[in-house]
Amino acid sequence: MPSRLIVGTQWGDEGKGKITDLLASNADLVVRFQGGNNAGHTIVIGEKTFKLHLVPSGILRDNVTSVIGNGLVIDPEVLLKELDGLRELGVKIGKLVISDRAHVIMPYHKIIDGLEEEKKGSLAAGTTRRGIGPCYADKASRFGLRMCDLIDPAELERKLSISYPVKKAYIEALGGTLDIPMEDILSAYLKYGEKLAHHISDASVLINQALDDGMNVLFEGAQGVHLDIDHGIYPHNTSSATITGGCCTGAGVPPKRINTVVGVVKAYTSRVGTGHFPTELFDDVGEQIGTVGKEFGTTTGRQRRVGWLDLVMIRYSARLCGLDSIVLTKADVLCGLSEIKVCTHYEYDGQDVYDFPASMRVLEKCVPVYHTLPGWPALSSEDWAACRAGGRNGLPKNLAAYITFIEANIGIPVEILSHGPGRDENVHL
Ligand code: GDP
Ligand code: IMO
Ligand code: MG
Repeated sequence: MPSRLIVGTQWGDEGKGKITDLLASNADLVVRFQGGNNAGHTIVIGEKTFKLHLVPSGILRDNVTSVIGNGLVIDPEVLLKELDGLRELGVKIGKLVISDRAHVIMPYHKIIDGLEEEKKGSLAAGTTRRGIGPCYADKASRFGLRMCDLIDPAELERKLSISYPVKKAYIEALGGTLDIPMEDILSAYLKYGEKLAHHISDASVLINQALDDGMNVLFEGAQGVHLDIDHGIYPHNTSSATITGGCCTGAGVPPKRINTVVGVVKAYTSRVGTGHFPTELFDDVGEQIGTVGKEFGTTTGRQRRVGWLDLVMIRYSARLCGLDSIVLTKADVLCGLSEIKVCTHYEYDGQDVYDFPASMRVLEKCVPVYHTLPGWPALSSEDWAACRAGGRNGLPKNLAAYITFIEANIGIPVEILSHGPGRDENVHL
């Protein structure tokens, strides 16, 4: 602190939500800076499970002001439902600020998302169909609606009356229908605007003022580096900038105001969606990891594909994001395996490859080269309590060796080992 940024280093679902909640214990602001309700973050506190999509993962801490930055695409209906759901679970929605520059997901974005996915064939990303890509596309083509428009009825009507017929024609050209009349969309979105109006302001002003005042600001990334629009597994990636740099544009802060960057690394790899996955497992070990790790998407419920840890991916993320430390999650899921493999590099056309390739045709031909380490036994809750008390020296020898191997290969220390979904299930190393 005072400012820390949390990024996912793989293909999302590394446990960023849990770690953001953990590190938010002494934060004043928690700021989301990209993505939308394609994100799904599960946080477990005692007997309660919270599933967040748009609301920053600091919302469960009373000390935190939650900020939704300009880099997000917001489905206001989903956001209002999420806030209601949190209130029903007893969460006090303290201060929540939504950037007036964040873009708004419209009903036609969701329809277009589905229709384009169907037309794309092998180029489809397996999107969450939440309208994320079409909304970011409208942002880039300057055809989008922003949160400031939701609280300006005349402006909302002016913009929608221009975009609606264009979107309707496009949807029909793709073989679909936009059967919600424009007037209905207008009145629904004006209502959302009325309900959210008191949260909407210039978030960048607030964030920079908080930093000027020496407050602790935690920036929370969604998705993961390998889903980044520029550096991710194109075209099977998402549509926002998920790397450290995305925080500058998506929250409106200069790079030098980001003090430290924490990369969340799952102890193995998982993926929801399409595209080549070099270390993917199709055997009983993969089945076991998926079952023990409960690898089902928080947003869509889809089964996640799983594979061994891929250090090519993590080194790439460390370089792009300037990681200062790593939080390693879900190492508990690997307990009891006799041996554990880690991909150190790929082999392509007789050459060793250490950098993730841009071309999917090259990636498909990359053969992972593994280093095999001995596993560690299943640990009881008492064993984990001893690990928490003992820190690095309290860990089983082979788990400590797994961590050391990762650190040596990436050149970055592992700061925390998360060993369960619960808020307190962490070993500080
Ligand atoms: P996010 O999108 O990065 O926030 O991750 P998700 O919440 O989508 O997926 C991570 C899942 O793993 C959630 O169900 C978490 O409750 C759970 N989880 C997080 N850390 C750990 C851990 O260290 N061990 C285990 N077993 N589960 C964890
Ligand atoms: P969190 O924040 C895992 C994936 C989708 C798809 C691709 C594009 O929970 O880590 P989109 O709907 O964004 O256009 O889909 O990106 N994807 C995620 N995978 N975790 C996420 O978020 C994801 N958000 C998007 O499965 O392959
Ligand atoms: Mg998730």
